Amino acid sequence: MRVKEMAKGWLLSFCFLLVVNCVRVHASEDLQPYRTAFHFQPLKNWMNGPMYFNGVYHLFYQYNPFGPLWGNISWGHSISHDLVNWFILEPALSPKEPYDVGGCLSGSTTILHGSKPIILYTGLELNNSQVQNLAYPKNLSDPLLKDWVKWSGNPILTPVNDINLTQFRDPSTAWMGPDGKWRIVIGSEIIKGQATALLYYSTDGFNWTRSDKPLHFSSKTNMWECPDFYPVSTIGKDGIDTSFQGNNTMHVLKVSFNSHEYYVIGTYDPKIDQFLVVNNDFSVSTTQFRYDYGRFYASKSFYDSAKKRRVLWGWVNEGDLDLDDVKRGWSGLQSFPRSIWLSDTRKQLVQWPVDEIKKLRAKQVNMENVELKGGSLLEVPGISGSQADIEVAFSLSNLSDAEIINSNTSDPESLCEQNNVFMSGRFGPFGVLVLASKNLTEHTAVFFRVFKGPNKFQVLMCSDQRRSSMEVVDNSTYGAFLDLDPLHEKISLRSLVDHSIVESFGGEGLACITARVYPKLAINEHAKVYVFNNGSKGVTMSSLNAWNMNKAQIVPMD
Ligand SMILES: *[C@@H]1O[C@H](CO)[C@@H](O)[C@H](O)[C@H]1NC(C)=O
Ligand SMILES: *[C@@H]1O[C@H](CO)[C@@H](O)[C@H](O)[C@H]1NC(C)=O
Ligand SMILES: *[C@@H]1O[C@H](CO)[C@@H](O)[C@H](O)[C@H]1NC(C)=O
Ligand SMILES: *[C@@H]1O[C@H](CO)[C@@H](O)[C@H](O)[C@H]1NC(C)=O
Ligand SMILES: *[C@@H]1O[C@H](CO)[C@@H](O)[C@H](O)[C@H]1NC(C)=O
Ligand SMILES: *[C@@H]1O[C@H](CO)[C@@H](O)[C@H](O)[C@H]1NC(C)=O
Ligand SMILES: *[C@@H]1O[C@H](CO)[C@@H](O)[C@H](O)[C@H]1NC(C)=O
Ligand SMILES: *[C@@H]1O[C@H](CO)[C@@H](O)[C@H](O)[C@H]1NC(C)=O
Ligand SMILES: *[C@@H]1O[C@H](CO)[C@@H](O)[C@H](O)[C@H]1NC(C)=O
Ligand SMILES: *[C@@H]1O[C@H](CO)[C@@H](O)[C@H](O)[C@H]1NC(C)=O
Ligand SMILES: *[C@@H]1O[C@H](CO)[C@@H](O)[C@H](O)[C@H]1NC(C)=O
Repeated sequence: MRVKEMAKGWLLSFCFLLVVNCVRVHASEDLQPYRTAFHFQPLKNWMNGPMYFNGVYHLFYQYNPFGPLWGNISWGHSISHDLVNWFILEPALSPKEPYDVGGCLSGSTTILHGSKPIILYTGLELNNSQVQNLAYPKNLSDPLLKDWVKWSGNPILTPVNDINLTQFRDPSTAWMGPDGKWRIVIGSEIIKGQATALLYYSTDGFNWTRSDKPLHFSSKTNMWECPDFYPVSTIGKDGIDTSFQGNNTMHVLKVSFNSHEYYVIGTYDPKIDQFLVVNNDFSVSTTQFRYDYGRFYASKSFYDSAKKRRVLWGWVNEGDLDLDDVKRGWSGLQSFPRSIWLSDTRKQLVQWPVDEIKKLRAKQVNMENVELKGGSLLEVPGISGSQADIEVAFSLSNLSDAEIINSNTSDPESLCEQNNVFMSGRFGPFGVLVLASKNLTEHTAVFFRVFKGPNKFQVLMCSDQRRSSMEVVDNSTYGAFLDLDPLHEKISLRSLVDHSIVESFGGEGLACITARVYPKLAINEHAKVYVFNNGSKGVTMSSLNAWNMNKAQIVPMD
């Protein structure tokens, strides 16, 4: 990932180390109302290559061990047995060698032949040249894989020929083709100006040669970062190993650009390395599918062989000022890990928080079949709203009066901005207010509106941060359409609220929106949850289940 883009993502630091070392995590809550309880906050942000190996989940992430600003980028390393509670280890890689002295940037892990993990990562040289390097565990018998050795053959790839030396980074997890060769893609913008997923082959995982054609490219977008390429099953939610060869699969190519995670779905023929996109190809248009329509970048997925699922994580950066981050001493966190699979329509992906999150659920509040007339506002009692998991479903019956929009030309984000929570529509806005202060001066609204489009009803999902804080911080509004039929399906929402992050899943995971918020009043036990309907038409809240969430254990090892 690019240095300039990373600058906002500086992470964390001394304060966090001190707090954790003194086991003063609870006492620090008043001072640190934005520090999350169950979203992983390393000492730094954005991710590299997670993996599951020998019963242990490994999370690697970009980390500055020496301060809260971007710099000295190392590979932070934490391990977990359940994706919820984490032990923080010493960094796996630090910038020391001529081929990575400017930073050990993003990359991926691959488990060669199911037994030999390797890290492929981008190193920044002093002259700003980006090169690819390899590291392997020092001691395969160490279940934590604490120590990593940089290979003596580094760098394994340098930017030659038409590769721009500052636009060559983020090797993917390798997959094996029917010829027994490993393949990776690397993000680039080649000199003739095309965003490209460069393809490389290797027989041993160490010695790589470039294919004469890329896996995919586009002249319509900026440089691609952090490419991810993996199969998804067409017959269920189970994940598939990255090297799986067989029927009933399609392939996903995800790339990062313009601060967003864009993906396309296609068919892949590994014999000729041909990837054919079946939906819209990459563009910056608002109809392009994204993993998340809020703050979420530089994500990586991995195949979890223990639970037969593909798990996705992303880096969620801060929305406040750099100065605030410095004062706090940290910046950036990880999304909650999500299972990811192909929808029944095969047109898009579906994401859902991994089941292990339920371990943290404490007190539950349940409501069933509540009619919400136009203008309703109802507090969800008994929920301390700064750490909550909220699931709610709405049903609508007669939509013949729905307002009309031309969804061809409608950008969901600007529709959310115009048709906000204060504008009464017909069907909606209805949804939840989270991190709400007692007098509602502060609240983050996550809500829906239903329109009549050219061929079908359009369900709009919004997350509005304009009233999240008394201070003007990040006042953005995010939006997405949900591909569901509101006459016959419920409109559901799940929001994971964790102090300064609201991670929302609409339509059982058809669209995700992650927001960062910095309330002044609605902090800790002062945060409340409401359901509301500000449309003129009634809505049935068919069910609401909300849980207070316990704090996960995220502590240094030893
Ligand atoms: C961190 O990086 C800076 C320059 O980027 C360098 O001057 C400094 O020595 C590094 N610190 C450590 C402890 O490596
Ligand atoms: C950049 O520096 C490295 C390490 O000193 C060197 O091997 C490489 O040739 C340099 N690249 C360019 C393009 O100057
Ligand atoms: C490798 O790890 C195992 C398990 O932790 C340990 O018993 C062994 O001593 C380690 N070997 C070396 C050479 O450090
Ligand atoms: C390489 O990329 C940089 C950054 O986008 C750009 O400024 C530069 O012009 C590119 N170099 C070439 C030779 O295209
Ligand atoms: C690396 O692979 C290439 C192409 O397969 C081959 O020509 C070369 O000899 C290999 N190099 C080493 C050091 O194995
Ligand atoms: C895939 O399907 C084809 C045609 O139905 C069949 O011949 C082949 O054996 C299947 N391959 C695998 C790996 O299941
Ligand atoms: C649906 O609502 C419209 C407008 O309010 C009304 O004219 C129509 O009779 C209703 N249809 C049903 C089946 O209730
Ligand atoms: C919307 O898009 C569809 C399919 O692309 C097209 O047939 C239709 O004419 C468009 N409608 C408008 C109002 O632009
Ligand atoms: C609903 O809209 C009214 C103004 O039309 C506004 O005063 C009220 O705060 C809104 N309700 C919610 C829950 O935002
Ligand atoms: C809500 O409470 C805060 C803090 O007491 C106060 O500053 C603010 O003016 C109140 N807002 C309203 C609308 O009463
Ligand atoms: C949002 O914040 C920006 C500055 O961060 C400010 O210029 C803009 O006026 C704000 N918009 C609203 C609607 O408050």
